Amino acid sequence: MIILGIETSCDETSAAVLKDGELLSSIVSTQYFHSKYGGVVPELASRAHQKMIVKIVDEALISAGVKKEELSGIAVTYGPGLIGSLLVGVSFAKAMAFALKIPLIGVNHIEGHIFSTFLSDEKPDFPFISLVVSGGHTMLVLVEDFFKLKLLGQTRDDAVGEAFDKVAKLLGLGYPGGPIIDKLAREGNPDFVKFPKPIPSSKNKISNEDIPGENKYEFSFSGIKTAVLYYLKKINFQNLEENEKIEITKNVCASFQRVVVDALVEQTIQSAKDFNVKNISIAGGVAANSELRKRMMEKAQSEGLKLYIPDLAYCTDNAGMIAFVGYIKLKNNIKSDLGLTPVPNLKI
Ligand code: KG4
Ligand code: ZN
Repeated sequence: MIILGIETSCDETSAAVLKDGELLSSIVSTQYFHSKYGGVVPELASRAHQKMIVKIVDEALISAGVKKEELSGIAVTYGPGLIGSLLVGVSFAKAMAFALKIPLIGVNHIEGHIFSTFLSDEKPDFPFISLVVSGGHTMLVLVEDFFKLKLLGQTRDDAVGEAFDKVAKLLGLGYPGGPIIDKLAREGNPDFVKFPKPIPSSKNKISNEDIPGENKYEFSFSGIKTAVLYYLKKINFQNLEENEKIEITKNVCASFQRVVVDALVEQTIQSAKDFNVKNISIAGGVAANSELRKRMMEKAQSEGLKLYIPDLAYCTDNAGMIAFVGYIKLKNNIKSDLGLTPVPNLKI
């Protein structure tokens, strides 16, 4: 079974070819021009997808050595994401599936991230807990099989990647902020500033009857972003000498990253213990964070849990993960019809 995957939900135009669950090719084109605006500009993103999509799909097919007539189906992200961006991928996939008379499979982007670990050599056994951390999402999901996912908790406000991006902006660093903070934090002191832990206090917890106890597995990242802003104002950051600014920036990055990683690790390990699950995984753009990978690995080992992390290339948005979910769905005879439309706020 040969699947073409297409991903255009945000600022990556990506296509991949997967044969019987193994990737033959994966092409990702990132729209770096958004960095000058400090974030993704939706209208520009969709126009750029439109310009790139034909070329990227062609490249994926050529690099896989596969002719389009050999495809068994086309998997495409139909949500969540930016409406205009999703529309480019979905319309393209529908037209191509119609012309080739092959099945179209709509894929949830978050499910793509959750199952991206299956693109690596080591694949988790079910059940596993997945921590999904990206620019748009922060959630803990109990994955009992490919089609049985239970949301355990999520962020109440900003996503963790968004917090990295906003803090980077406050410090005058570029976009996306995650990789820059990751790098600078290595040279900073994580105990320099004490920022609030991004977990809502227990008295504010929202009760959820589906989950034992209550919804313990929430996050909240808007407070920490504000705390960084207040801290920078307090020390009059903008008017510091250049070398002082550089030192403070490294220390703020390290202190911010420390408390964020603490919260992500703590909630993930706690949920695995509460649900008696031995396998955990992290996925999404922030899963590329070096401290998160290291600390989650150390904690998993000390708690007797097994951690699965996608290869770096499959942490950030890519069509390989979409093709993989499409493959699992098609194997189970789950297809979409040509009336498929984007769902910007699609849930798992
Ligand atoms: O999964 P992704 O590519 O797109 C979404 O679905 O949102 O995630 C992008 C996010 C951005 O917020 C970016 O700053 C963050 O992932 N990110 C990182 C790192 N690499 C990317 N955050 C922290 N550390 C990193 N190394
Ligand atoms: Zn994503």
